[in-house]
Amino acid sequence: MVPDMTEFQTRILTAAIRAPSGDNCQPWRFHFESELLVRVSAHFHRAKSFFDFEHRATALSIGASIENMRVQAASEGFATELAYAVENGGENYATLTFTRNEAMRISQARVAALFERTVNRRPFLPMAIHPSLRAQLLEEPVDGVMVQMITERRGISQWADVIEIGDRIRYSHPVIHEELFSKLLFNRQMAQDVRMGLEIDRLGVGPLGAMLLRWLRPWPRVQRLSRWGLVYALARQSGLLARFTGALVLITTGRTGSQNWVRAGEQVQRIWIKAQELGLQTHPMPVALYLDQRYHTEGLNDFLPAHNELLQRLRSRIESLIPTGTGVMLFRLGWGWPMRGQSVRLPLDRFLD
Ligand SMILES: Cc1cc2nc3c(=O)[nH]c(=O)nc-3n(C[C@H](O)[C@H](O)[C@H](O)COP(=O)(O)O)c2cc1C
Repeated sequence: MVPDMTEFQTRILTAAIRAPSGDNCQPWRFHFESELLVRVSAHFHRAKSFFDFEHRATALSIGASIENMRVQAASEGFATELAYAVENGGENYATLTFTRNEAMRISQARVAALFERTVNRRPFLPMAIHPSLRAQLLEEPVDGVMVQMITERRGISQWADVIEIGDRIRYSHPVIHEELFSKLLFNRQMAQDVRMGLEIDRLGVGPLGAMLLRWLRPWPRVQRLSRWGLVYALARQSGLLARFTGALVLITTGRTGSQNWVRAGEQVQRIWIKAQELGLQTHPMPVALYLDQRYHTEGLNDFLPAHNELLQRLRSRIESLIPTGTGVMLFRLGWGWPMRGQSVRLPLDRFLD
C-alpha cells in the first residue's frame, strides 16, 4: 500500500494502471481529493511520441484507465460518476466520484479479466468469431463512439493493405526508429529497472526476431538493408498478421475534441476486457490511422519527402474506408495462443500528484 492512501484507493489505482498505453508509456497521473473522488490527468512528458498527435493517444489511454477504475469500483459495489474536464489543452481530463450502489456490483470474472488482459502480438488462428460472441463484445456501447467489426475477407484485406502502408512509413522514418529503440527493454533486468516501455520478449517476434531487432538498432544499418527490402518485409509481416485473423475492429468517433478520444478509450478498454473474459486475443494496430491524421492536418512537415506517395495513398484509402468520422483505434481480434504474464508498470507512487 502507498502511504496516505486507503486500501480502496490503492485497489482503484492498481486497476487504473493496468490500462494499455502507446509503447507502454503509462501517461497517467491521479490525485485523490478525498477517499471517493479521484482526478485523472495526463503526464505529457512520459507520453511524448510521434504517434501521440495532438495528445490523442494519451486521451485514449486515459479513457482506458477510467474504464478500469469503473470496473474495479463496480466489483466492490460502487457506482462511478464521471465528469470530463473542460477542454482547454490542459493536463486535466476527468474526475471520478464513487458512491456506494450495490445494484452496480459486477462479477469478479470481469475484474479478473481486467488484470489478465494483455496485448498479444503473435499470429492468431484464422478462425471466425461466432456472431453471439461478437454481439457480447458490443453489449455496452459508449455514447458517441462507433464500433465496426470487420469479418469478411475483402474488408480485412483492405485494412491489411492500409496497415502495411502505415508500417512502410513507420519503419522508414528515422525519428520513429529512434523513439522505438529508446523504448525497447532488451532484457528482464532492464524491464525491472525501467518498468516503462516495450519488453522485447512480449513483442511476439521469438528469440531470432529479438536478436534481429537488437542488431537493427543503428539507423544507418536499417537504411542500408532497406535497399534489400527490409522495410517492405517488416511491413508485409504486419499485413499478414492482420490478414490472418478472426476480425479487425475499427473504432471511430464522429466528433472531434479530446473528450471524445477519452470516451473512445473507455469503449476500447470495455471491449478488450470483455474479449479477455471470452478468451479472445487482441492486438492494436493503429499506426496507419495516427500517421494519416498527422499528415492530413500538418502535411508532409514531419515526414520525409520520400513518404509523400505512401501518405497520399494512405489518405485516399482511409478516406474511402472511413467516409465520416475519425479512426481512433484499429485492432486484431481472434483466437490464439495466450501471452503469459503481464507487461511492466511503474510503482504506484509514480502516478500520484
Ligand atoms: C493508443 C495506443 C496505441 C497502441 N499502439 C500499438 C501498436 O501500434 N502496436 C502494438 O503492438 N501495441 C500497441 N499498443 C499497445 C501497447 O503497446 C500496450 O498497451 C503496452 O505495451 C502495455 O502492454 P499491455 O497492454 O499488454 O499491458 C497501443 C496501445 C494504445 C493505448
